[in-house]
Amino acid sequence: MDKASPIAVIDSGVGGISVLRELVRRMPNEDFRYFGDSANAPYGEKSTDEVRALTLSHAARLFDEGAKALVVACNTATGAAIATLRERFPDRVVIGIEPALKPAARSKTSPSVLVMATPLTLKQEKFEHLLAQYNEDARITVLPCHGLVELIEQGVVTGERLTAHLRDLFAPLAGDTPDAVVLGCTHYPLVRAAIQEVVGENIPLFDGGVGTAKETRRRLEEAGLLNDADRTGNVTIENSANSPALLALCRALLREAAE
Ligand code: DGL
Repeated sequence: MDKASPIAVIDSGVGGISVLRELVRRMPNEDFRYFGDSANAPYGEKSTDEVRALTLSHAARLFDEGAKALVVACNTATGAAIATLRERFPDRVVIGIEPALKPAARSKTSPSVLVMATPLTLKQEKFEHLLAQYNEDARITVLPCHGLVELIEQGVVTGERLTAHLRDLFAPLAGDTPDAVVLGCTHYPLVRAAIQEVVGENIPLFDGGVGTAKETRRRLEEAGLLNDADRTGNVTIENSANSPALLALCRALLREAAE
């Protein structure tokens, strides 16, 4: 494996850009190859078997094409496929993401924590285990966010339509404001400002992007694969939907973070 090879980052669509921006921030000299599977989004409404099969096939292709590591920048795909990926590619660096329950549950004593995620993430065994780990520290409620990924994939990342959809999603809580909110899908940090407005300005929001980027750096270093060249890396963005609008959206979201 070559230190100069790119790091592959995958998601069901544009969501993984929220992780890619943290990766680029921490490892600006690395090359990244981002692949969004928007042709098959949303993963959160599919079955575990379907999402696992898609994720394995993307991973196999990206490793075949020379990626030195794989970041699964999708909570839903991580839940469905991370164990199988580690079995299938035992010698590779594979990093996943999970809802950031740990910092949310420890943000104060016995907080009420609301986890926003895709319906499939919340149904998975991996999420059950995560819940069991923090159930004693926090009162945890889950909110399956139907339709939110679809809106973001359409480029609706600000404005009235997005706010109205978020208000509908939060309606069942009937104003019961949580102490902390977990953004348990990588699409959601892309609409952080709108979520913040709907849940309330003082409520802390937690996502796994920074933790995943730190873990990726740590794992690459441990494997002797961290690029030590003094250069600015390249970021390439690919999408299975082959849509110029989606590629432009990804680039805009990545740029926005850099500004
Ligand atoms: N971005 C993905 C996640 O983190 C899933 C979005 C989807 O449903 O396709 O869960």
